[in-house]
Amino acid sequence: MTALTRLESRPAREHLMTATGGVKSFYEQLLLSDDDAIKTPLARRFLQEQLQQAAQLPDELPRDLSALQNWVEQHSVDVARQYADYVQQRKAGGARQFFSNKAHALFFLQAVAPTKLVDGAWLYGLLPHWKDPRFDGLLSTYLEELGEGNPAQNHVLIYRKLLAEHGLPDTAAITDERYLQGAIQLALGYCAQEYLPEVIGYNLGYEQLPLHLLISAYELSELGIDPLYFTLHVTIDNASIGHAHKAAQSVLQLLPVEGDRDDFLRRVALGYRLNGLGQGSRAIIESFDLDSEVLSMLERKRPFGQHMHSDYSRFEGKTVNQWLSSSEQLPGLLAALENKGWIKRHQDPQASRFWQLIDGPGAAMFGVFSPYEKQLLHDWIAGDWKPEHPAVAVRRGSSVAAETPVPDSDPDIQRLHAALNGLSGHEQMPVLMRWLSPHRHAHPAGLLATRRFIELKSSLL
Ligand SMILES: [Fe+2]
Ligand SMILES: [Fe+2]
Repeated sequence: MTALTRLESRPAREHLMTATGGVKSFYEQLLLSDDDAIKTPLARRFLQEQLQQAAQLPDELPRDLSALQNWVEQHSVDVARQYADYVQQRKAGGARQFFSNKAHALFFLQAVAPTKLVDGAWLYGLLPHWKDPRFDGLLSTYLEELGEGNPAQNHVLIYRKLLAEHGLPDTAAITDERYLQGAIQLALGYCAQEYLPEVIGYNLGYEQLPLHLLISAYELSELGIDPLYFTLHVTIDNASIGHAHKAAQSVLQLLPVEGDRDDFLRRVALGYRLNGLGQGSRAIIESFDLDSEVLSMLERKRPFGQHMHSDYSRFEGKTVNQWLSSSEQLPGLLAALENKGWIKRHQDPQASRFWQLIDGPGAAMFGVFSPYEKQLLHDWIAGDWKPEHPAVAVRRGSSVAAETPVPDSDPDIQRLHAALNGLSGHEQMPVLMRWLSPHRHAHPAGLLATRRFIELKSSLL
């Protein structure tokens, strides 16, 4: 019985995972648990549910295999042309199309973090096929996502560094739905043996260069944010020799020679459509609302701040602690700060007393707000005001600093060495693979294992 016939015979009550809003906890369980006996059934059930959803989406993939490579190339030609139009508009003085301000861009980087932090995960389960040359394209795609064990090129590490640079808080503000694509990627990675056609199809969809990636890179750089993570994917996912090309080739190479080819292709097409589930990058970008982000940020801060202020300053008769005693009062507090002239909207924030309390050495509230939170307040106060000297555009790669070497005394590295000790090359491969998992590969021992895996793979074949 194929995965899909099993899926189709299942009743609708299986919509459990998303209906109860447990995507985030599912994502974390899959990422953090080390117990395959728990993970595999969880991943399977989740995937079955998601595939049912994907079946409702339009099916765009050509069934004529001789047309597939062309179709992929045509997609990238279309994207390149649309991007050229975009650049032309911008050069002619047109406004940014994605990010209204820097806070908006940071909001986006945070919202897509659950997906970016498991980049490549859908291919993890294919590692056991390292001896089979038909899997070479998919495996080299996975190993490139891992930077081939070089921390400066590991996609997950690059994204983590980007988040850290802008003080984007971990996860509190990320809604459940935004874990969906990451959860799908993890589930595919842990069920690859059963869902090979779906993995191939998902990969084909994910590795095609989207227009939004190009526009994001352009506008991030303009806002003074390092676009390396995005520009890196422009080059690496290209349709001529990059991941998109390998993705299309893999469909042809892994198609069964005998047996039900139509069923295989139907499942590839279904896996492809998994990419369309959840909120896409554009929808996330469009969902940003500066006023409500400012208010929900203040609401997250409120429990910590409501007893911390002196009663010295009063706004419209109330102390700050009184204003902070309930969330309904937050809009009123902002209005009171404006009325008293502590916030002067649509001007340089430096002119606002409230901003001076937050920013700069010696500011009374220095350290209270994270860089992202400050950016929200800054851009909210600035409103229509435009600085005379806008942020200097950032060139790709400027943030990749030299890595501090990890000492051999690192406990995970010691454990890895001990586990490999005395094993033959072939015996080492499964030990190494565990360290190439989505949760581990970005750790120092995971990076070491990735480099060792690549060396051994080429020497053993
Ligand atoms: Fe990537
Ligand atoms: Fe890629």
